[in-house]
Amino acid sequence: MQFSHPLMHNNFTKADMNTAIQILKKRNPILTQSKYVELFETAWSKWLGVKYSVFVNSGSSANLLTMTILKILYGKGEIILPTLTLSSDVNSVIQNNFKPVFVDINPRNLCMSVDEIIKKTNKNTLAVFMTHVQGFNGLTSKLISFLKKKNIILIEDVCEAHGATFNNKKLGTFGKISNFSFYYAHHMSTIEGGMVCTNDKKIYEKIRILRSHGMLRESKNPVFEKKIIKKNPKLSPKFIFLYPGYNFRNNEIGGAIGLSQLKSLDKNNKKRKENFKFFLKLLDKSNYRTDFQVEGSCNYAFPVILKSNKMKFRSLFEKKLIKNKIEFRRGNAGGGNQLRQPYLEKFTKKINLQKFIEVDHIHFFGYYIGNYPSLTKEKIKKICKILNNIKI
Ligand SMILES: Cc1ncc(COP(=O)(O)O)c(C=O)c1O
Repeated sequence: MQFSHPLMHNNFTKADMNTAIQILKKRNPILTQSKYVELFETAWSKWLGVKYSVFVNSGSSANLLTMTILKILYGKGEIILPTLTLSSDVNSVIQNNFKPVFVDINPRNLCMSVDEIIKKTNKNTLAVFMTHVQGFNGLTSKLISFLKKKNIILIEDVCEAHGATFNNKKLGTFGKISNFSFYYAHHMSTIEGGMVCTNDKKIYEKIRILRSHGMLRESKNPVFEKKIIKKNPKLSPKFIFLYPGYNFRNNEIGGAIGLSQLKSLDKNNKKRKENFKFFLKLLDKSNYRTDFQVEGSCNYAFPVILKSNKMKFRSLFEKKLIKNKIEFRRGNAGGGNQLRQPYLEKFTKKINLQKFIEVDHIHFFGYYIGNYPSLTKEKIKKICKILNNIKI
């Protein structure tokens, strides 16, 4: 269907396309991970304000690498996870044999409730894996100081929140490791892609190794490489596989598009923030939730959360959006409450869903529609008029 208001629009520009074409047109181009990947990693680290970044082929791969590195460094433990996130966050935890501990959301920012996190920590808690849902900041000073005091690791999933801040500092700079996605639907895109970011040199080196089959020569640490080569005289120095790794590399086209897209990210995000405030101002407060914690947020989507929990209103709402060609997703980030998904059946048999009231409301009555930089104020007015006229 051709939408009058799609979830994303014009997220891949002529300039991006030309950058890719220039590389393809070179004589004997190197297209696998090389110079442009490194240039993008350096530019991204500078933009974010971290020491190290590793460009990978998706945000999900970034998540998996992050949990694999925790497994290598710390072995086992419990990981506190949101119920509203993408499946790949949960998968990365269970695939590395950590125990997932699920937390309900704060309805005002859709991220994990800080009080619930604190309640669910214990001596086995290794990390809190915070997803900054749909551009909202999930951090508070209380959470950060609690985790520090208890020596619990903070990991940030910033796949949906590029450029959002807490205390004027970018999200993705608070955690030990932070992950980004550059899938088409997000604030910027490399077609497919992701980034793992950290200030920890050891983690950086290991993530690089894990990204390329577990291969030692990727480490960027000659002293460490020399030591391992000496320890393994029967192995070809270029083929020492240190950990059971993956091939999660991206490529030169992705790197060059990333560099090109990064140039417009701040300008685009400024527009998104303006759009978001304008949208919330116009939206009818009697039918939809508008009391979000917008401070520091940077949203690539407008959350449209119905206040009513009547199926009749929901069905009318969906019909009206379809009729007006407004593209939408029900359930918000990752399609709603992960505890209701079949892939988690083994873990959720004993979980009482009644204890996850907030995420369940989003699951059944929460939606999002697109917020992209080319969206005009006039268009937002039209969309709000349609939404505000839905009545039963
Ligand atoms: C919160 C969250 N985490 C992880 C991901 C995974 O990113 P990707 O689609 O690049 O694998 C996404 C992407 O949609 C996401 O929204």
